[in-house]
Amino acid sequence: MRITDMSAAILGLTGFKYTVSAFTPSINRGALSVRQASKPFVLNNSKKLVASSLRYHSSSNKDIFELLASLDDEVDPGKVEGTDLTVLKYPNPSLRAENAEITQEELDDGSIAKIAKEMLLVMYAADGVGLAAPQVGINKRLIVYNESGDSKKWLNEIIMVNPKIVEFSNAKDVENEGCLSFPDMRGNVERPKWVKVEAISLKGRKIKKKFKGWESRIFQHEYDHLDGVVYIDRLSEEGRAEVQPKLDALAENFGEGGAL
Ligand code: CO
Repeated sequence: MRITDMSAAILGLTGFKYTVSAFTPSINRGALSVRQASKPFVLNNSKKLVASSLRYHSSSNKDIFELLASLDDEVDPGKVEGTDLTVLKYPNPSLRAENAEITQEELDDGSIAKIAKEMLLVMYAADGVGLAAPQVGINKRLIVYNESGDSKKWLNEIIMVNPKIVEFSNAKDVENEGCLSFPDMRGNVERPKWVKVEAISLKGRKIKKKFKGWESRIFQHEYDHLDGVVYIDRLSEEGRAEVQPKLDALAENFGEGGAL
């Protein structure tokens, strides 16, 4: 794993207690966000050991760097038990296709609930915090996420059908993102700090929420997928140039018919 400049900047702060959260698998698979905060460490599964090590070493930035650098790179879970869905990689055309609004009928017949449940299985298996339906080859307006990335914290699971952003802040911030469909790469993305969102639940109930911070970041990343937008589209010129060799390799691997 590569430590980004931004992480470095945050880590460069001294005299604070650090909180480490397993970064969006879908947003930042296998990476870490290090923040000054009073919240406890939020890390899932294999990262727990590293988290406890970080506690001991948090007085020294150098040690934190070494520990972060020792984290495993992303793991593609491949076939996941309980579902045939798999995470599609760039440049699979599903990532750029149009995504249909979900109908009341699809909610009533349980097909969307089934897909959402299986998407969560795939997401957890990939050590992700969010996933959008086009990433598993289903071109419908459905996203799932769990900001903890921890399947045991299922109360944090969010399933959104036909989400819309109805308002967003002019104020922006920058975070380092990655995506399950783009293995082994990341980059800094600027987005509005907060968004007001409307969606419907699996039961067809209207959801109205304002997201800020981490959840706003996850939501906006997943929401982009529903418009065929992926985070590499939002990188700076330098950020894009940095990942371009990996994108080229993915495209070559995919062969004919990719959608860049
Ligand atoms: Co993504």
